[in-house]
Parts: sequence; structure tokens; C-alpha cells
Amino acid sequence: MRITIFGATGLLGKALIREWKADEVVGLDSKDADIRDIAQVRRAIANTRPDWIINAAAYTDVDGCETNQGLAFAVNWRGAVNVAQVAKEFGARLLFISTDYVFDGLSTTPYEPDHPRGPRSVYGRSKARAEEEINSISPDACIVRTSWLFGIGGKCFPETILKLASLRSDIDVVDDQRGSPTHAPDLARAVIALCHAYAKGIVHATNSGECSWFEFAREIVRCAGLKTQIHPTTSDKFVRPAERPKYSVLSPASLRHYGIFMPHWKDALRNYLSMREAAETPAASLNSRKP
Ligand SMILES: NC(=O)c1ccc[n+]([C@@H]2O[C@H](COP(=O)([O-])OP(=O)(O)OC[C@H]3O[C@@H](n4cnc5c(N)ncnc54)[C@H](OP(=O)(O)O)[C@@H]3O)[C@@H](O)[C@H]2O)c1
Repeated sequence: MRITIFGATGLLGKALIREWKADEVVGLDSKDADIRDIAQVRRAIANTRPDWIINAAAYTDVDGCETNQGLAFAVNWRGAVNVAQVAKEFGARLLFISTDYVFDGLSTTPYEPDHPRGPRSVYGRSKARAEEEINSISPDACIVRTSWLFGIGGKCFPETILKLASLRSDIDVVDDQRGSPTHAPDLARAVIALCHAYAKGIVHATNSGECSWFEFAREIVRCAGLKTQIHPTTSDKFVRPAERPKYSVLSPASLRHYGIFMPHWKDALRNYLSMREAAETPAASLNSRKP
């Protein structure tokens, strides 16, 4: 198959490029095609003629979206709709990456795909609106919601905790938001399998298991063999521009329907730490300087 990926320079996009071996893959960033401009999207798809379009492009700065609402909706809603319209024009299948932040966070059991949306932030609203419109443009599109993405080659929670832990003996982390961390390569493999299965509709894809940010941070520090103490705190002590859902665990049932199982987040974290260490070894940095 021929695959075109928007957002190929992002955390997930890079993992998709690394993991996608079986097909002919073209990765695009915002300089190749700005998804806010439908003419640029049309040109990119005319040049690549894909069987599947993966839209992993987004404005992902959740707090930034609160102050840049125009940009949030231009990229996350209008841009996503542009990609869906062009996919339809060219008869390509579409897989759109979405987020747990489309939910209100009030549930106490894992969210199923048909649970009503109730976003609490501009970022969540821009993605929720995109989902709704993509569904009406192309009911066969596959919308993959994920959460708490981490991986090498980008800004992510484990990276932040490891940096802080190298500087501090104590770190406070919120213990009243629960979700499922998701390692980008695991999600990339699930996305590839979903395309090969011609998946459609909304699918939830995260690493299995759940935790709070505090529990995630404690495990990061423990697995990295660091002595920094992680202390639980509450969201009211860490007021941020965008409200986060208190609970955003996504049920794995829709993914299992396709026979796809993702590893537990603790195993995924260990893989991430090994990959991170390998990327930092002198041999790896020597290789990365080769043309
Ligand atoms: N990160 C998370 O925790 C998380 C959680 C749940 C869901 N998601 C979703 O997962 C997907 C991937 O997220 P990520 O963390 O990998 O994103 P990321 O690292 O922030 O990367 C964003 C990507 O989008 C591209 N992009 C931004 N604006 C664009 C535009 N106007 N036109 C074309 N491309 C544009 C960027 O290209 P440039 O490099 O050229 O700027 C980059 O490749 C997104 O849909 C996001 O909403 C993320």
C-alpha cells in the first residue's frame, strides 16, 4: 500500500516512520504541506496518491491552545477537515489521530468510543469538532483516540521528569488525574495494524493499565534507578491555563475487536528507557553524525 503521513516530524509521526516497514510511506511536515491550506493538502495528495492518509498533525500545546484559540481551531479542526475532504476527493482511506481530551473526565470507568464527547479545553473542543465533521464527511474514516503519549525524539512527561530528577531531590506531581500512558512506537504499530485491517469508526488505542501522573512519575524515577523522591499533590496546587480531565482511561475493547493488544504501560516505560539510553550512547551519537 501507499501511505502518506501528515505530522511526520511529531512524536507519533517519527515513530510511524520508524515502524512502518511493509508499505511505501511518505512523511510530511508543515513545511511540505500546511494542512490549514487545502490547496497544499491537495497538491501533497496528488503527488503521493496514497491508499491511506494518516493525519497525525496537530497543534498539541494544550495550554497554548487556550491563548491561541484561532490557531488551535485552524490546525486541529479546519486542517483536519481539509485532510478529510481531500482524502474523499482522491478516494484514499483516512486515519485521524485524536485524543482522550474530547471527554469530560467525569467517568469512573474506562471510556468506550460511543461515550458522549464533553471536552473541557480549547484543545479538546478543537479535536472533538474535527472528529464530528470527519465522521460526516467520511463515515468510513478511522478515528484513533490515544492518551498521554511519550517517546524519544520529542517533549514528553518521562523526559521532563528525568530532567527534573537530575536537578532536584524532591518533585511534587499531581495524583488526582488518571489516564493511560502510551509509548509512541506501540501506538504506531497499532495504527499500522489498523490500516492493514481496513479499520473504520472510532478506536481507542493506549498502552494497557492506568495510573495517575504521580504513579507514572514514581515508576519513571524507580526504573531509571534515581533517588529523587516523588510526592503526590493535587491539581489545585498546579493551576494551568487548560483544564485536564480528572479521569481519561480509554477502554481497549474497540482495539481488541481487531485482534490488537498493546503492552502494559510499565513494560512500555522500560522499553522507552532502554531506547533512550541506546540513543545517548557514544556509538549512537557517532552513527547519528554519519551522512
Ligand atoms: N502528545 C500527546 O500526549 C497526545 C495525546 C493524545 C493525542 N495526541 C494526538 O496525537 C497526534 C500526534 O501528536 P504528537 O504529540 O506526535 O504531536 P507533536 O509531536 O506536537 O507533532 C505535531 C506534528 O504536527 C505537525 N503540524 C503542526 N501544525 C501543522 C500544520 N499547520 N500543517 C501541517 N502539519 C502541522 C508538526 O509539523 P512541524 O514539525 O512542521 O511543525 C508535527 O509533525 C496528534 O493528533 C495529537 O492531537 C497526542
